[in-house]
Amino acid sequence: MTSTTEAAGAPGLPEIRGLGHSLRRKEDDRFIRGKGTYLDDVVLPQMLHMAIVRSPVAHARITHIDTSAALEVPGVVAVVTGEDLAAHDLAWMPTLSGDTQAVLATDKVRFQGQEVAAVIAEDPFAARDGLDLVDVDYEELPAVTSPQQSLAAGAPLIRDDKEGQTDNLVYTWEAGDRDATDAAFGRAEVVVSLDTFYPRSHPAPMETCGCVADVNPATGQVTIYMTSQAPHAIRTVFALVTGLPEHKIRIKTMDIGGGFGNKVPVYPGYVVATAASLLIGRPVKWVEDRSENLISTGFARDYHMHGELALTRDGQMLGLRASLLSDQGYAYADAQPSKFRAGLFHIVTGSYDLAAAHVAARGAYTNKAPGGVAYRCSFRVTEASYLMERLVESAALELGTDPAELRRKNFIRAEQFPYTSATGFVYDSGDYHAAMDVALREVGYDELRREQAEKRARGELMGIGIASFTEVVGAGNHKDFDILGIKMFDSAELRVHPTGKAILKIGVQTQGQGHETTFAQIVASQLGIQPEDVLVQYGDTDNVPYGLGTYASRSTPVAGAATAVVSRKLRDKARLIAGHLLEVSPDDLEWDGSGFHVRGEPGARSGIADIAFAAYTNPPDDVEPGLEGVTYYDPPNMTFPFGTYVVVVDLDRQTGEWKVRRVVAVDDCGVRINPMIVEGQIHGGLCEGYGIAAMEQIAFDENGTCLGSTFMDYLLPTSWETPSFETFATVTPSPHHPLGAKGVGESATVGSPAAYVNAVIDAVAHLGIRNIDMPVTSSKVWEALRGAGAVPPPRAGG
Ligand code: CDP
Repeated sequence: MTSTTEAAGAPGLPEIRGLGHSLRRKEDDRFIRGKGTYLDDVVLPQMLHMAIVRSPVAHARITHIDTSAALEVPGVVAVVTGEDLAAHDLAWMPTLSGDTQAVLATDKVRFQGQEVAAVIAEDPFAARDGLDLVDVDYEELPAVTSPQQSLAAGAPLIRDDKEGQTDNLVYTWEAGDRDATDAAFGRAEVVVSLDTFYPRSHPAPMETCGCVADVNPATGQVTIYMTSQAPHAIRTVFALVTGLPEHKIRIKTMDIGGGFGNKVPVYPGYVVATAASLLIGRPVKWVEDRSENLISTGFARDYHMHGELALTRDGQMLGLRASLLSDQGYAYADAQPSKFRAGLFHIVTGSYDLAAAHVAARGAYTNKAPGGVAYRCSFRVTEASYLMERLVESAALELGTDPAELRRKNFIRAEQFPYTSATGFVYDSGDYHAAMDVALREVGYDELRREQAEKRARGELMGIGIASFTEVVGAGNHKDFDILGIKMFDSAELRVHPTGKAILKIGVQTQGQGHETTFAQIVASQLGIQPEDVLVQYGDTDNVPYGLGTYASRSTPVAGAATAVVSRKLRDKARLIAGHLLEVSPDDLEWDGSGFHVRGEPGARSGIADIAFAAYTNPPDDVEPGLEGVTYYDPPNMTFPFGTYVVVVDLDRQTGEWKVRRVVAVDDCGVRINPMIVEGQIHGGLCEGYGIAAMEQIAFDENGTCLGSTFMDYLLPTSWETPSFETFATVTPSPHHPLGAKGVGESATVGSPAAYVNAVIDAVAHLGIRNIDMPVTSSKVWEALRGAGAVPPPRAGG
């Protein structure tokens, strides 16, 4: 299905390249030519540069800061400390989860890498030189490096700054029905359980975070150029924190070199640069280096999970229990919707028809950086999907059942939608069996299983891993979703100019997802203006309507819907103008994809460009001139994309090394606006999923020192390691989205890690190995094989 109003184009006229067209991305023209404008390209007259002094230790009392030597460095203009900010009541700021976070430390440092002071200088080199000369005395305290340690009796209190905080517990939260779940477990014939850890990882965008703050002392105008995924929310938070009038604050984004969730929070650097610009009266630029990005901004995941699945002996799932312990770092800065302390983890029942489920979550402070961002993830859905898909694998092993069959047996059936999950989500649509069928057919599942059996008989190891995921994206309806009380919805403003060319302004923010192309395609599909004639703008709070930004795959479900609705509003007005031009009643007109014609008389036609011209030059007496409008869209429900991924691996028993042979990915994101862009999103996610499964982890030593502060230590998959991907689609439209579309931006990052890990476990499970936590490195596999007595003696001569 596409929308009933999809433009096929009028007969004899050029086809309108709306929904379903794999248009090349408009924005790539400037990216490929090196003509993008990123934060570091912003250069303002009189601009100063800021560098941040960071704590070398994870937990310490600050006893003294001496800035005098740094101030002597030629070119250094100022050194700002926490005490300086405290004088303006700016030493602390709220996080997007309603906690507090230090802007510059005053009393204590609480993680290695925390912001302690800032050096402002005429050039970046002088600022760096100044850093080394800021003398900070630390009185070290014991560091808390795990949530288990954090919640144990006698643990050092991390947030002694918070009145009434007597332990390191951040929150407790639960969902589902505990009694019903206990009853389901009481009926179970088989219970499988899994303890697993989803490691701390980093979105690691190519462009790091930063800003240029420009406060004009004469006018009071504050302009902040920023790498932000959510400029409007940041502006409102800035207004609330600083007391500056919101209409005098302008957040402007440029091109953003990837965000992936890392660029949602408000970072101390933004606030310090703005305060410095305010105090000094000149623009101040701050750009993180790579290590600062990895150590101090927006990590993701870090969830310790225990799951239990109750089944009958013949494989019917009865109930699910999950308990979570999250490592929040020293501040709760997740940017979760206020109501959901553990994000949307409670979608953990996934694609399965489970009558009962219960989730209990706790968060703990540790001496690590805050973050917990939605790294290509709808608020903890990734962790949930991983736990469930690993549990299903464990259940199949326990029951001796084929894992594909076990899934099929328990999938919610197509006719059960809309389906209410045991934890309260109303899934709008789905056809999980269809996606699984395509995946198994395309990968040649039965043949692979035969090959695996033969190889196993010879002692060779290969594995086939499946993950069937359901997501919940498009936050969200305003009743359930808000960030710091700001309700989640999104917006689109569309102006059609007299010559029929248009500008669309959207409240979401592209960071490489291709919005300039796909949102123009949405206008094309609804209003018949070709995508190249629609300029898409975003990210300047003075210019575009209010929106909550781009993360958690919400752009298409929310701002995409707003764009469709505003386009339809303009089309309704265009009908009135066309009636006037054709001298017929508007009711006698039919839309043909790019204009109106009199019903039954295709020749009597007014195209959208003529109508637009008339809107400004010859409007009907009773119609307001002009052709523009704005829509704020509050989605009635989330959208529920889904899919099945199958991964085939070959594993070397001698070394533990595993290599991905095939990845078959079947995604269903409803109606696809631009199939090529959708595929690109999936390729990126499958690559990120592989990185998480195989190599990425931000680790810490026992003192809380971050061991992943460079790309030599924090490993990302390069083109050398990245497998190739085979992508397929099924199309199950969302019944409530105006275009039938669902989000897709995060699907593969959410769904694929379990498929890779399940493949490795599938290769070694018959040797008694049931779990290896991510990242599943070859050394961990080798250790597990050795533990199972399955490592052969070295080959002769080897
Ligand atoms: O919020 P974000 O843009 O990261 O995620 P999204 O809404 O899932 O969109 C990612 C990209 O895929 C955008 O360019 C979308 O317009 C495009 N997309 C599409 O073409 N068709 C869909 N059904 C969903 C997304």
